[in-house]
Amino acid sequence: MTSERERAYWRRYYDHTAAHEPADHARVGYTRAAFAQLTHATIRRVLGPLDGRRVLDAGCGDGQVLGGRAADVHVVGLDFSARMAARARARGLVPVCGELGSAPFRRASFDDVICAEALQCLARPDEAVASLAALVRPGGRLLLTGLNHRSLLRHVVRTVGKLRGEVEPELIDASSLTRLLAQAGFEVEPVWWISYVPEFVARPRPRALHVLLGFFATNFLLIAHRRRDAA
Ligand SMILES: C[S@@+](CC[C@H](N)C(=O)[O-])C[C@H]1O[C@@H](n2cnc3c(N)ncnc32)[C@H](O)[C@@H]1O
Repeated sequence: MTSERERAYWRRYYDHTAAHEPADHARVGYTRAAFAQLTHATIRRVLGPLDGRRVLDAGCGDGQVLGGRAADVHVVGLDFSARMAARARARGLVPVCGELGSAPFRRASFDDVICAEALQCLARPDEAVASLAALVRPGGRLLLTGLNHRSLLRHVVRTVGKLRGEVEPELIDASSLTRLLAQAGFEVEPVWWISYVPEFVARPRPRALHVLLGFFATNFLLIAHRRRDAA
């Protein structure tokens, strides 16, 4: 699919789930509630307290990741599905309907930008990441999670889905995002692996273990800090 058709497909998909899926996890595309909880809880743990910070949740869905945080956290939720954005409002986010790759905000206007499990809807996730990175203020953070392109399980599931003629989400190469962010003036922490099957969250320091777990981890989490002297 071309990127335009892909985008239109996923927007229809999420508009539909926002309107019709009663279960929280299914509404935002997770196959099981436990998978959504594992990802959301890991993001919150890695971010730590957010009091007083201005945060953008890009691809926020219905706001499950940061909805319900302390009232003095200002969270703007960006989503291209108007129905999702409306649901995010109910969880306390300030909803904005728009595209990940051309978010309508000033450069360097957020302390933290997060984008959880949304990059797989894009044919060119690197372009969206570059534009999200520009929204982070010097000293601020960018947190990304996505479908790990090294995962053996993901390749099997994706291949079976394609053989059945289904539209499959894109797998994301966390290493190339790390390089892109380093070039954009970020200090990038070592990648976290998040895995649904088998279930684990790990950031192993020995290189060999990191590479090995990368074949099993279904998802990744990257956190990057914009250098204070970045242009
Ligand atoms: C899998 S859901 C994740 C929702 C939320 N981040 C979470 O983890 O619970 C992906 C969300 O990203 C949104 N999304 C996908 N592609 C987008 C794009 N190009 N621009 C804006 N939002 C997008 C979808 O509408 C959907 O709400």
